Amino acid sequence: MTTPKRIGILTSGGDCPGLNAVIRAVVKCASRRNWQVIGIPYGTDGLMKVADGEYDIDKLVIPEHGYDIPGILQGIDVLQFLSGSILGSLNKGHPDETETVAKILAGYNRLNLDALIAIGGDGSLDIIYELARKGGWNLIGIPKTIDNDVPFTEKSIGFNTAVQTVNSALYDLTFTAASHDRVMVVEVMGRDAGHLALHGGIAGGADVILIPELIPVLNETVIVQVCQKIAELRQRGRKFALVVVAEGVRGEDGQRMRAIGEFLAQAIADRSHILCESGAADYCDMDQVETRAMVLGHIQRSGIPTASDRLLAAAFGRKATDLIEDGRFNRLVVWEAGRVRSKDLGDAIAIVRACHDKGICPGPVEIDSTMVKVARSLGIYVGDPIPTSQAASPMPQAEASVV
Ligand code: F6P
Repeated sequence: MTTPKRIGILTSGGDCPGLNAVIRAVVKCASRRNWQVIGIPYGTDGLMKVADGEYDIDKLVIPEHGYDIPGILQGIDVLQFLSGSILGSLNKGHPDETETVAKILAGYNRLNLDALIAIGGDGSLDIIYELARKGGWNLIGIPKTIDNDVPFTEKSIGFNTAVQTVNSALYDLTFTAASHDRVMVVEVMGRDAGHLALHGGIAGGADVILIPELIPVLNETVIVQVCQKIAELRQRGRKFALVVVAEGVRGEDGQRMRAIGEFLAQAIADRSHILCESGAADYCDMDQVETRAMVLGHIQRSGIPTASDRLLAAAFGRKATDLIEDGRFNRLVVWEAGRVRSKDLGDAIAIVRACHDKGICPGPVEIDSTMVKVARSLGIYVGDPIPTSQAASPMPQAEASVV
């Protein structure tokens, strides 16, 4: 038996499926060691409330068993099936005022923790990392985001479930699209990264997938090429089409667009009509292209965590407690080449900061990655190939320490 410890856990940044599964895994692994887990509500906001004495700290302990839940579900296991976060999450940005930081640090001190596990995305882990540095906290980071753009890890909590949600939506749209010979444009999340659009799109049978890494701006050339893809399908007798666009694809002026899916749907309809009027034989039935747009939105953040996300949550939770047991702090738990590992959190945050300073994504889709090649090979339109030298890529990652 190891020395009993008291560890904190919080969720920060936008929620995603699988956060509760991580909390459950941490609590189970900690219970086996006789450690106590303190759940910190609403991230740094909770720490401020602790500083103000607004919580009974004993009530923040998350036990494995003994819940007053009807039936036989007395323990924490049910959590792995629920998306959201039982702790609540916070999306507020860096606390820049000195008094706010001081209060957060004071709240942390009151909890008397041996270590903190923060489940966050690139932005929120950056914030917690900075606070941990100032407060001398023993921090472990666990990556979560449906955007899957945290450096060093191949998989983040929530991504697989979101892919499944996009995949199911495309399946559901296929039959109505086919019945009316329509082009369905589906806008999916992915503020800076196209992993979700690419994976969900391929799995769900999309004909066109537009992601910011390959389509930095949605210009006339891209719209014409999308229409040509639709025309090619029609010539083969396939009258409907599924188009997936990541919200991070920018308008022709390089600016973010609020409703990129709606804009694209209208642009496809208009441009198809113009192509038809050109009289070219290939485009003769393009005057009938009818489009509809839908925004999948926050449904992508709330699906039932898939088995794959639950397994990842279990593996990440276990690794985080192992790192604490071994006294190895300032680590980011990652998935790499079929294994759970950890990397220096400071290295990951350095990449995040450098990329955010340059306005680029810290964990983009690599333009020559397997899934991009798969999409092209299947005949899915993803844009013209970009020469590797012109692609925006994050900082070199090779030298990060791995254990
Ligand atoms: O960062 C994850 C993400 O899901 C993005 O893809 C999306 O743009 C954003 O969160 C939405 O955040 P909010 O819920 O704060 O609007």
